[in-house]
Amino acid sequence: MKVFVILCCAFAVALGASNTLWNDTDLDTLRNALLKDYDTHVRPSNSKTTTDLWVGMTVLHMEIIEATSTLETHAWLKMNWTDVKMKWEPAKFNGIDNMRLSADDVWQPDLTVYNSAEDKIVDHYAKTNKIAYPSGAVLWVPTSKFKTYCSLNLKMWPFDQQKCEIKLGSWTYDANQLKLRLSDDPVELKHYYKNQEWVIVDSSVEHHQTKYDCCVEPYEDITFYFTLSRRSPMYKAIAVVPTIAIVFMVLIAFWLPPDAGEKLILNGFACVLVCVLLIYFSQLLPVMSETSPLIVSFYSQTLYLLSASLIISAFVINISRKKGHKALPSFIKTIFLDNFVETVFACKSKAAEKAEHTVEDGNAGENATKDWIRFAVVIDRIAFVVYVIIFICMGFFHFV
Ligand SMILES: *[C@@H]1O[C@H](CO)[C@@H](O)[C@H](O)[C@H]1NC(C)=O
Ligand SMILES: *[C@@H]1O[C@H](CO)[C@@H](O)[C@H](O)[C@H]1NC(C)=O
Repeated sequence: MKVFVILCCAFAVALGASNTLWNDTDLDTLRNALLKDYDTHVRPSNSKTTTDLWVGMTVLHMEIIEATSTLETHAWLKMNWTDVKMKWEPAKFNGIDNMRLSADDVWQPDLTVYNSAEDKIVDHYAKTNKIAYPSGAVLWVPTSKFKTYCSLNLKMWPFDQQKCEIKLGSWTYDANQLKLRLSDDPVELKHYYKNQEWVIVDSSVEHHQTKYDCCVEPYEDITFYFTLSRRSPMYKAIAVVPTIAIVFMVLIAFWLPPDAGEKLILNGFACVLVCVLLIYFSQLLPVMSETSPLIVSFYSQTLYLLSASLIISAFVINISRKKGHKALPSFIKTIFLDNFVETVFACKSKAAEKAEHTVEDGNAGENATKDWIRFAVVIDRIAFVVYVIIFICMGFFHFV
């Protein structure tokens, strides 16, 4: 009982005089002195003097999203400025020479991304701490995520290079109130995460002053430019290598025997393959008004060629399979068979031809069928040569 009473008394004393349990630390005293009546909405400078803001960026990761034409950047934005209300003499506060400030303790510049593609426009920065120094300097390095518009040119996809920009400026303070400056090392890339799809091949920073329609005062901005190059062995495997297979499929179909039904299967299969790839591209790439990627136009032109090749195959199979033909019209025979055309395209020597003819002189019907087959072979060979020429031209225009 006695013990309980003593405990209660001790507790009551502790409650009644809670201030005496611990004394203010040096930092408490300093914070009280500086922040007690601090208004975070007021720019810490007299109205006629400007606040200088140094800006720099450390890029961690960049990614281009083709579907929405945007660039996503993860970075640390370095900002430092002088806050005249945050000056102190370290000697008076037991030698404290720096102090952490949490997100909403002091004024901070409203640096905003002008070409932001984000709907929540001012939420670029995480609420990280700031560091204040006795001179009034405040350093703030928030981790940031920017999503910015970037006009893409995908003509060379998947071997493209894109130039994108991030335009940063104060949203409300004009150049007379907030002056932007570039810090010593404005773009730092040494923390950039390698092994991503995009490699930064070039970066630069520019400082601009612009007058907008809204207001008479000029506004400043700092624009970071990045040239990104796509590193895409996977896209090469998916998109470029199949072109070779499809071209061969088209060409091989002309070398099958003239009456082989596999011609149609081969061509039809190539058609399906091209369609599947085109659908894949349409999922991957945005629909663009100006230029479509060369690889896509290559595939769609190949689809035209395949359709024509299907028609040719059907025709060739048809004429070479029919039995009991009429004789080949004599003008066709003259043009395609008896002249040098067959010799050149079907590699048949005149002597072999003659021998064939004399041996089978007896049967006129069989001879007619033979002639039709020879005609079919010649058509196949001519088509082959024409397609080779077309493919070489297409390759030249698309990939050189
Ligand atoms: C608080 O400061 C007073 C006066 O300097 C001192 O007597 C007291 O012991 C201190 N209390 C604590 C908890 O340090
Ligand atoms: C901000 O940092 C830069 C170095 O990047 C320095 O030159 C400048 O004096 C600093 N400004 C303030 C107000 O501390």
